[in-house]
Amino acid sequence: MNTIPLDSILNDAKNLLAETSSLAALEDWYLRYFSRERGELNLLTREIPKLPPAERKPFGQEVNRIKSVLQEHFDARKRELESVELSKKLLRERIDVTMPGRAIAPGHLHPLTRVLDEVIAVFAKLGYNVAEGPEVEDDWHNFTALNTPEDHPAREMQDTFYVETGAGARLLRTHTSPVQIRTMEQNQPPIRIIAPGRVYRRDTVTNRHYPIFHQIEGLVVDSRTNFADLKGTLTLAMQEIFGKDRKIRFRPSFFPFTEPSAEYDIQCICRGEGCRLCSRTGWLEIGGCGMVDPSVLQAVGYDPEQVQGFAFGLGAERIALLKYDIPDIRLIWENDLRFLRQF
Ligand code: DAH
Repeated sequence: MNTIPLDSILNDAKNLLAETSSLAALEDWYLRYFSRERGELNLLTREIPKLPPAERKPFGQEVNRIKSVLQEHFDARKRELESVELSKKLLRERIDVTMPGRAIAPGHLHPLTRVLDEVIAVFAKLGYNVAEGPEVEDDWHNFTALNTPEDHPAREMQDTFYVETGAGARLLRTHTSPVQIRTMEQNQPPIRIIAPGRVYRRDTVTNRHYPIFHQIEGLVVDSRTNFADLKGTLTLAMQEIFGKDRKIRFRPSFFPFTEPSAEYDIQCICRGEGCRLCSRTGWLEIGGCGMVDPSVLQAVGYDPEQVQGFAFGLGAERIALLKYDIPDIRLIWENDLRFLRQF
């Protein structure tokens, strides 16, 4: 008769299994009983050959029964512990959806970008296309084709940085007017474009001058265009941008590439009272304009007897000053966030 207490082994194993409180402890329990090498149940199997022959079979059967009972208990316990651990994990990783999120500070467009976008939108409504040209320009497009030959005194007013001098001179463009020439060289009338872009000029920095600034050039060429069209177009555009209450005036002026020429002013941010920005005149000049000079049309191969045109150039920073009541152009370039946040 063997003396191995199978019943108490089964009971102990069940009790220990019930006490396991984690999947790690369960794993230890499993190894203790089921490990191939040292598992208690396998050790029992190894006892069989030592038993009297008559007892071997019932003992083996009993061991197998215990094995399958414990395997079932083990599987059940495993499911239990897994679900406990899962709920613990879910609890641990719970997301509090009521917690306020981290706000992303919304940025916004720079006042100058807004002005450029708005001016483009106004002229787009009038049927203008946007054209562009290089910031490093050659002498022909920046001056000569615009009726400003080499020794012309008007060049002096637009001194700039020359990248190359001499015959193939190249320079930082002093205005967006060269885009007129480039457009006419590549297209036939009718033409209706605006050309926004950056321009450079040797200039003393003041509250309304800066050596880098932006212009928006406009050019219309057609079989019949006249000064009234020019005046009407600019007046309409300025009213769209500044509102109808803001006063506009045209003053006779001179540009080599237009005849007749004018400059136009917008009532200053002081609304005519007189302030530092307008040097107490009550007005701020924002651009030049005029009827395209016949020699410019000839320079691009157009026949001045067949087509006429008008052109204008707007200072974008000046528009921003006037539109947003900014008293000094330097504020636009300093990029101080305390200033920019106000827009
Ligand atoms: N390009 C001129 C300047 O920068 C402005 C200007 C005057 C542009 C008359 C024009 C124009 O298109 O017709 O001073």
